Amino acid sequence: MSMLKISVKLAFLWAVAFLFIEVNAQQLGKGISEEDLAPWDISVDPNGSRLPSGSGTAAKGAEVWADNCSACHGEKAEDGPAGALVGGVGSLTSDAPVKTVGSFWPYATTLFDYVRRAMPYHAPGSLSDDDHYAVVAYLLERNGIIDEDDVMSAKTLPKVKMPNHDGFIQYWPSKGD
Ligand code: HEC
Repeated sequence: MSMLKISVKLAFLWAVAFLFIEVNAQQLGKGISEEDLAPWDISVDPNGSRLPSGSGTAAKGAEVWADNCSACHGEKAEDGPAGALVGGVGSLTSDAPVKTVGSFWPYATTLFDYVRRAMPYHAPGSLSDDDHYAVVAYLLERNGIIDEDDVMSAKTLPKVKMPNHDGFIQYWPSKGD
């Protein structure tokens, strides 16, 4: 191949590369649309603001649990390969503290946020908000924090006081209560 042909080829490749960079650069700094943002904009504050509509009870949550969670966290959330989410309440100041959702987490609203964004581990985002409320109710009920028939929703969940609510130092006093 002559030097000229190689040069023409190289020039062409550079042109393609610059075009590619230019097209991509045009995407930089572009504002995201509300629609594209919505699936990512799901943080729930400790005080419950930004909780979605929907509701659920522990009874319904037991079904959601059996189908989506029990394989990793045990039939009753007490064991399984990914660990217990129930028990240990009152053990934190003992010689053998057991940290679970029930014994350690300060806000029930955080449980909703976490489950909605991260669980089930292999398929986050696959459940409805009614299912999220129900499975959160199930875990709270299994920890003895609410009753079986208590309906969890954007209105009631923030009112649930977790056993370790006062076990943390508030760094940002304006968040939560
Ligand atoms: C495929 C296995 C798997 C399934 C199914 C699963 N989880 Fe998990 N879960 C995990 C793993 C692994 C962790 C630890 C993740 C980490 O620390 O990053 C975890 C952590 C958690 C935690 C936080 C525990 C803590 O104290 O930090 C909660 C709450 C939880 N899962 C709830 C659920 C719920 C509710 C479901 C069903 C909707 C579910 N998980 C389904 C594997 C699973």
